[in-house]
Amino acid sequence: MTLEGKKIIVGLTGGIACYKIPYLVRFLTGQGAEVRVIMTQAATEFITPLTLETVSGNPVATELFPDSKFISTRHIELAQWPDVIVVAPATANFMGKTASGISDDLLTTVICATARPVIIAPAMNPQMWLNKITRKNYTFLKEMGYLFIDPDEGDTACGDRGVGRMAEPDKIFKYVEAFLTKASKKKVLTGKKLLITAGPTRENLDPVRYLTNRSSGKMGYALAEAARELGADVTLISGPVALKPPTGARIIWVETTGEMYQAVKKEFPRFDWLVMAAAPADFTPSKKTGQKIKKERQPIKLEMTTTVDILKQMGAVKKKNQLLVGFALETENGLNNARKKLQAKNLDLIVLNDISDEGAGFEHDTNKVTLLCPGHKKAVTWPLMTKSDLAFKLLEFIANLS
Ligand code: CTP
Repeated sequence: MTLEGKKIIVGLTGGIACYKIPYLVRFLTGQGAEVRVIMTQAATEFITPLTLETVSGNPVATELFPDSKFISTRHIELAQWPDVIVVAPATANFMGKTASGISDDLLTTVICATARPVIIAPAMNPQMWLNKITRKNYTFLKEMGYLFIDPDEGDTACGDRGVGRMAEPDKIFKYVEAFLTKASKKKVLTGKKLLITAGPTRENLDPVRYLTNRSSGKMGYALAEAARELGADVTLISGPVALKPPTGARIIWVETTGEMYQAVKKEFPRFDWLVMAAAPADFTPSKKTGQKIKKERQPIKLEMTTTVDILKQMGAVKKKNQLLVGFALETENGLNNARKKLQAKNLDLIVLNDISDEGAGFEHDTNKVTLLCPGHKKAVTWPLMTKSDLAFKLLEFIANLS
């Protein structure tokens, strides 16, 4: 039972998808979770509290101030009780109220009063989903840390076609299960200080153009997020990326390889591990020009010099109690090249990405890697997995090296 001992509040707002929620509750209780249900008045128009009381095995809460018992702090008790709150189906109205801090019924009051994670599964007419105010509320709520299981595309109850149908109960269940399983991971990195780099760097050609690479930063950000969840003290040195900063990590922004080097050099002495997941640009124009290069100047020849190899520099100054982890991105002779880098940069581990593997490397949400350590004769290859799962697995692996 994957959810044994977990406490979950399921909140229903007024939408036809309410009829699917008993299945969700059944899935959750079937894996050992204790579920308490809160329904808005509109939700009770679609399905009776009795149905949800029966499947959850707990009384259903609908009123902020129930007639029978006056419990003025009920919303606080409910807000503090669960490990997670799942709002499904969530209407545009619920999203709008939550985004504005309006708490005019039991569910929105509990949401406002809780410090627990909230997962929202919207369901609405496609036009309502596309409505600019709904889009704005969605983006804002995400920025505020609310988690979303986006609606699916298909026919909706009102006969329209488009994105708006609530994700199916089994999909919501799997998301919640994965979320809670991850959250209960042991804090194996408590007390450890991790310096992680991520993303590409940019080398300016002139004031309007730059040279960069395809790194998205996803692997480094996944590592920072996972390390935080495992209890580490994390500093992330990031090149320019379009990703949300990981919660709880200190972040240092850099642009060029030279800036990344300066930041790493300054920070590394007080860290236990350095994980270089970044893809710093290897070349920089030999001559910097303060003016835009004009196309009339033909032919255009760019002379480049190599940038500083950050890992190599850190490998030369690393102390015995510090671990150095590098990544290698190869298009051919992967193992040989990775082995050379492991040695040349004095690393404790190198993680090889072969971009010829489908789903691996830059820009993907998944990755397939091979691990090489100085002490291990044989390389270990892991199957294709999400970068988030890989981040956890990799951190556990590194923890066992020290
Ligand atoms: N790296 C670094 N400083 C650089 C370039 C790379 O610290 N200027 C780090 C990367 O973060 C990565 C490792 O070195 O962890 C290997 O990077 P990779 O691009 O695979 O190899 P390079 O050493 O740059 O060599 P090449 O590009 O010739 O394969």
